[in-house]
Amino acid sequence: MSAVPALKIDNIGKHFGGVKVIDQLSFSVPLGARTALIGPNGAGKTTVFNLVSGVYPLDYGSIALNGADVTHVSQGERIKFGLARSFQNIRLIAHLTALENILLGQQIRAGGLRGLLYPLNVFRRNKWRDEARAALCDVGLEAYGDDMVGDLPYGVQKRIDLVRAELARPKLLLLDEPAAGLNPTETEELQAHLEGLTERGITLVVVEHDMQFINVLCEHVVVLNFGSKIAEGTPEEVRNHGAVREAYLGREEDEEAFSHAS
Ligand SMILES: Nc1ncnc2c1ncn2[C@@H]1O[C@H](COP(=O)(O)OP(=O)(O)OP(=O)(O)O)[C@@H](O)[C@H]1O
Ligand SMILES: [Mg+2]
Repeated sequence: MSAVPALKIDNIGKHFGGVKVIDQLSFSVPLGARTALIGPNGAGKTTVFNLVSGVYPLDYGSIALNGADVTHVSQGERIKFGLARSFQNIRLIAHLTALENILLGQQIRAGGLRGLLYPLNVFRRNKWRDEARAALCDVGLEAYGDDMVGDLPYGVQKRIDLVRAELARPKLLLLDEPAAGLNPTETEELQAHLEGLTERGITLVVVEHDMQFINVLCEHVVVLNFGSKIAEGTPEEVRNHGAVREAYLGREEDEEAFSHAS
């Protein structure tokens, strides 16, 4: 394994108002691995993604992508360092078709004004459109290409959102609860799909409440509680960690997901 991690979070902090949401947090994501970021509701998982992707500035600390310090790099520029993400609440544009939403993802890769116009241009066929259709085809969604996203079932929308993020050709992909709301078949398909991304050399960080999903998918788990890391290791190691069990105790939903995985 390479000595340079895909993502290095070094002693970062963030507060909102008077509340410390992320507090002296450090962890690294090994290159080529599938890492899970878990923790009870409100632990700060989505905030970590927002800090890594540059949605919010840090109060202190530093973030490096593949050895490059991006602490002061803007959100848009971080994409050029190979970063892409999905959102906990799907951010597709409901009144555009599946294909158009994906083309917007490609726009990021194209860059610049020319790039902005290219994927969305009026020509019926261009390489972007062909590539977007092929990507939909790869995941068995070709039938939905021309459907308005807002009319599609939730599980399909989530898959389209993933295709959109992937077409930015990321080296590091952050997925915020990709399995939430999916049925068991869709969840299994997602697992297989994410394993395929690793084979293509993409490093994954997955926030997920479903511990069974994590057990199957991830070799490395980081556990947050109140914005700090309370454990790190293999799924089995963190499952048996006293502080982790304690953090999940008394939180019914989380506790249930956690015990199912044991
Ligand atoms: N923009 C913001 N302004 C104020 N408070 C915020 C903001 N974003 C997050 N928070 C607070 O930070 C804390 C952590 O939120 P975050 O969304 O990161 O948790 P999470 O671990 O993703 O939780 P969940 O599992 O419910 O998605 C919460 O108390 C939340 O209310
Ligand atoms: Mg969240």
